[in-house]
Amino acid sequence: MKTILHMQDVVHRYRDGDEARTVLSGLSLQVGAGELVAVMGPSGSGKSTFLSIAGALLTPGSGVVTIDGTPLSGLDTRALADLRLSKIGFIFQSANLIPYLKVDEQLRLVSKLSHADAAGAARRSDMLLERLGIRSRRRQYPDRLSGGERQRVAIARAWMNDPPLLLADEPTASLDEERGAEVVRMLAEGARTDGKAAVMVTHDSRVLELCDRVLKLQDGVLAPA
Ligand SMILES: Nc1ncnc2c1ncn2[C@@H]1O[C@H](COP(=O)(O)OP(=O)(O)OP(=O)(O)O)[C@@H](O)[C@H]1O
Ligand SMILES: [Mg+2]
Repeated sequence: MKTILHMQDVVHRYRDGDEARTVLSGLSLQVGAGELVAVMGPSGSGKSTFLSIAGALLTPGSGVVTIDGTPLSGLDTRALADLRLSKIGFIFQSANLIPYLKVDEQLRLVSKLSHADAAGAARRSDMLLERLGIRSRRRQYPDRLSGGERQRVAIARAWMNDPPLLLADEPTASLDEERGAEVVRMLAEGARTDGKAAVMVTHDSRVLELCDRVLKLQDGVLAPA
């Protein structure tokens, strides 16, 4: 199994006035292609911080982060942005769709940002929306969609550039039990079918059986839950 996300001895502190608050204190994790890993932990334990570092949005105080074979240290801002666009798909708690773009436009924007060919992007967008069961909603604005549909658009958008790493921060938080399970099933299937590495932060113990591994973030490190 190819390692897609590799984190070694990651330490991160936030400055809190005069004091420094250590949130991650030597966290290590490896996630392979085809694997869906769940990360749990109490509020304030550092889950979103961990995910931001895994997603190259935040540079840790120390430690090593490697994504699909590329070590992040040494990349400049521009190279980090390119890496995020080509290697990482993000799914946030509240879908984070752009209100003034229709569903298919949300997906095509991702391709446009990475200068992909427009006809190919339109085909891929159609294929993903079909696969997630929302193709009939493709000309709608986000405010006309249900919470579950919005989250599926967010998944399709994360898949658009075919990134090897998917990161999801509480993707089921705004959904009922059935829709939540459906979203996680899609993440799991997508990871297995397309050989992606996926990490999902969740408070939702009902979806854990769909994950390959369940870890707990406690005292700044990850351990089996
Ligand atoms: N930019 C920041 N500056 C200072 N402190 C921060 C910052 N971001 C987060 N923190 C603090 O770091 C700790 C971890 O925050 P984080 O958001 O990673 O937790 P979390 O596990 O995602 O929590 P939740 O389950 O509530 O989303 C918290 O105590 C938070 O207040
Ligand atoms: Mg959080």
